[in-house]
Amino acid sequence: MNLHRLIPLVMLSCLPLLGCAKEGVQTKDPAEKPEEPRILVACFSFTGTTKTAASTIHNLVGGTLHMIEPETPYGSENNTYYDESTRAYQEQSGPASLRPAIQRTLENAADYDVILLGFPIWYGKAPRVVFTFLDTYLFKGKTVIPFITSGSTGISSAAAELKTAFPDIAWKTGDRLNGKTAEQLSAWLKSLGIKVK
Ligand SMILES: Cc1cc2nc3c(=O)[nH]c(=O)nc-3n(C[C@H](O)[C@H](O)[C@H](O)COP(=O)(O)O)c2cc1C
Repeated sequence: MNLHRLIPLVMLSCLPLLGCAKEGVQTKDPAEKPEEPRILVACFSFTGTTKTAASTIHNLVGGTLHMIEPETPYGSENNTYYDESTRAYQEQSGPASLRPAIQRTLENAADYDVILLGFPIWYGKAPRVVFTFLDTYLFKGKTVIPFITSGSTGISSAAAELKTAFPDIAWKTGDRLNGKTAEQLSAWLKSLGIKVK
C-alpha cells in the first residue's frame, strides 16, 4: 500500500477516538438556564404581623416557608412593652450569648442559597430566638436578607448586631416591611436580584 492510500485510512480509524474525546468534554449549552437559587423564607413572629409579610414574600418567590418556633411559646404577657418581669424583656436585656431553645424542624438547611429572614423588633433588637436559629443552622457563606416589622424602630441596629454575631454569613441590607403591599414587596425583592413569580 502506498503512502497516499495509507493516510486517509489512518485518519478514518482515528475518528471514533476523536468522537470519544469530544464526548468527554462537558461543554455547556449557552442557551441552558443557570440553576435558580434555592430560597428559604424563615420567620419568627409573635403576633402575626411579620408572618403576614413572610407569607406574601413566600407567595412571590416560592421556595420554603419556615416558621421559627420557640420550644416554649411566649405568653401574651410578653406583649406588654417594657415590663421587666416578662420573659421577652429578660431575654432581650440578658447576655448576648442567650439562646432560647427553638424547635429543630427545618430540614436540609444546607440546601438553601438565599435566606429571607423575618422577625419583629423586640426592644430595638432581633428576638434572641433568631440568634438561636442562626446558631443552629449555620448559614456560613449563604446570602441572608433580614426583614422586620416593628412599631417604629428601623432595621439598622438589629441588622448590625446580627452581622457582628454571624460574620460568616453574606448579609444583604434588609428593610422594614410594615404595611407593604404585594406589589411593593415584589419591587423590593426584584431590587435584591430575587426572581419573582
Ligand atoms: C416584647 C416586644 C418588644 C417590642 N419592642 C419594640 C421596639 O423596640 N421598637 C418597635 O418599634 N416596636 C417594638 N415592638 C413592636 C413589634 O416590633 C411590632 O408590633 C411587630 O410588628 C410585631 O411583629 P409580630 O406580629 O410578627 O410579632 C415590640 C413588641 C414586643 C412584643
